[in-house]
Amino acid sequence: MTRRSTPEPATPDDGTAHAAPAHLSARAVRIEYRAPGASASDVTLAVDNANLELRQGDFVCVVGPSGCGKTTFLNAVAGFLPIQGGTLELDGRAIPGPGPDRAMVFQQPSLLPWRTVQDNVTYGLELGRTMKKARARERAGDLLDLVGLTGFGDRHPAQLSGGMQQRVNLARALAVDPELLLLDEPFASIDAQTREVMQAELLRVCTARNVTALFVTHDITEAAFLADRVCVFSPRPGHIVREIEVPFGRPREQRLRRSREFLELVDEIADVLYGGSPVDEFGTGREDEEVH
Ligand SMILES: Nc1ncnc2c1ncn2[C@@H]1O[C@H](COP(=O)(O)OP(=O)(O)OP(=O)(O)O)[C@@H](O)[C@H]1O
Ligand SMILES: [Mg+2]
Repeated sequence: MTRRSTPEPATPDDGTAHAAPAHLSARAVRIEYRAPGASASDVTLAVDNANLELRQGDFVCVVGPSGCGKTTFLNAVAGFLPIQGGTLELDGRAIPGPGPDRAMVFQQPSLLPWRTVQDNVTYGLELGRTMKKARARERAGDLLDLVGLTGFGDRHPAQLSGGMQQRVNLARALAVDPELLLLDEPFASIDAQTREVMQAELLRVCTARNVTALFVTHDITEAAFLADRVCVFSPRPGHIVREIEVPFGRPREQRLRRSREFLELVDEIADVLYGGSPVDEFGTGREDEEVH
């Protein structure tokens, strides 16, 4: 196969940087958790020396053992957490905190139950107060069309299935027109069949709107189907031990999943992630081991 797989992600200093400027750039990022007043020994080093670059329109998936720092890293990119070392930049500027240029989709839908589907989608726009009400409603309608929920705008979240609620969540994240979409296992609680449909939809939406996406998942097949590149995190403290380029263009058909090339890619990612041991999956106490 012609796929390129790099042991460590390229950094701009090593002469192999991509021609286009990085949209998101993480260099030697270090993130610790320290309770207020805690002693130095009470610090949890969650992420250490994480290097990653995303260009506009990239779809990058992150996989790694449970507790290795994936959510932590995503939260830092979202601006919810400060970093203690390295640099984390969006379009060349240090991330100052949360901003409308980024939107996060969590594992659970987190919709407001008393609001209709449409009003959930417009919620972020209301907070930003950047758009007239009529325009916001129109936009919500377009986004509901985009995620396959035409006609459901007047329902309430409890009247929708889990998969439909997660689509509303996605529409809400897209409503603020983010440049960078951050997704933390968004489809983990959705049944396998719906998940496959949602994956194809997400990819279609991101391609149509040229959204850059950073997507955390435990599901290697999901990562292989969605990503332009799959980044494998080491056990905690997390850093990226391998970037695997995905050789498939977009759009991607469901039947891609059954192709030999796809299955080989899934195997390759699994080898890096499990270090050749398919039995020892995530979160089995191997935090002190490196993934090679
Ligand atoms: N608020 C917090 N305070 C202290 N430690 C935390 C906090 N959140 C996470 N941690 C610790 O940081 C490490 C990384 O956690 P994180 O949630 O980023 O892992 P993860 O890779 O997302 O795991 P999973 O795949 O299970 O979601 C873990 O050791 C965790 O215990
Ligand atoms: Mg997590």
